[in-house]
Amino acid sequence: MIGTDVPPQAMSIGDLARQGAARLSRAGIEQAGLETAWLLEHALRVTPLDLRLNESQIVEGEGLRRAQALLARRADREPLQYLLGTQEFCGLEFEVEPGVLIPRPETELLVEAAVRCAGMHPAAGRRPVVADVGTGSGCIAVSLARRLPLAVLHATDRSAEALRVARRNAERHDVAGQVTFLEGDLLKPLRASGLSGRVDIVVSNPPYIAEREWEALQPEVRLFEPRIALAGGEDGLAVYRRLVQEAPEFLSAGGWLIMEVGQGQAESVRMLLDTTKQYGVVDVRPDQAGIDRVVCARKQ
Ligand SMILES: C[S@@+](CC[C@H](N)C(=O)[O-])C[C@H]1O[C@@H](n2cnc3c(N)ncnc32)[C@H](O)[C@@H]1O
Repeated sequence: MIGTDVPPQAMSIGDLARQGAARLSRAGIEQAGLETAWLLEHALRVTPLDLRLNESQIVEGEGLRRAQALLARRADREPLQYLLGTQEFCGLEFEVEPGVLIPRPETELLVEAAVRCAGMHPAAGRRPVVADVGTGSGCIAVSLARRLPLAVLHATDRSAEALRVARRNAERHDVAGQVTFLEGDLLKPLRASGLSGRVDIVVSNPPYIAEREWEALQPEVRLFEPRIALAGGEDGLAVYRRLVQEAPEFLSAGGWLIMEVGQGQAESVRMLLDTTKQYGVVDVRPDQAGIDRVVCARKQ
């Protein structure tokens, strides 16, 4: 069948793996061999050992179609996590799909900071009330619920699609009874729940990409992740401006506002906090790469 574009009806696992890796490599994917193996394991529902020991086994029918479809989508630079359907975060596996941001490892620092602040709150000893603003997949709220079993959590998002995934993740990790998911704009849904002045920790990883940074993003992010989860207005600070202004209404005395920030944004966010004159201590923490990543501010 030389010279035709008709896809083969049957192939050995070894050939499929070699062709897949070459295709992903041509598409500019660095770990092409490894990613091909993960996609084939997923599509063919086999273990890494099965894949290695059965290179000459013939794949055909539905299994072959699934494998080729996943390889084609990855070659178009769709994120691996959307194809596999999961991403690990804080040692837990989270369901993800297009329409919800893929959790990033640096966001785990936000969870650590919130756990630390929960222990430092003057009301330590009673059940802390925590709000996760812009919950996305629910990775922060669910991880905090697991780490702080006495905490009462409220998680908001403007995206109904994200909230559906977040609810499933809360169920997956047995914390659905501990986290209330609310659709709406930033902290506003908390008002109707009677939480003004009662939240001990507001934690948020808001959208923070500036307009000028958009074109330089990886295609996986720019073309496939939801813009609503990423775009932070012209200078990337639009949502921080609102959060620092709006959080004090909801925070209890001595409560914490904890935010993830993008590279180079920590100082601007600190200035926004200072300008409100509502916050006392402001603590900035770097990530493993030395980039200031988490800003914690305590309400006076
Ligand atoms: C950077 S993502 C963070 C998602 C998740 N917390 C994480 O860390 O992976 C920002 C999230 O905020 C949501 N969002 C954006 N603007 C919002 C707004 N005005 N009110 C509520 N949620 C918003 C987006 O839908 C998205 O899920």
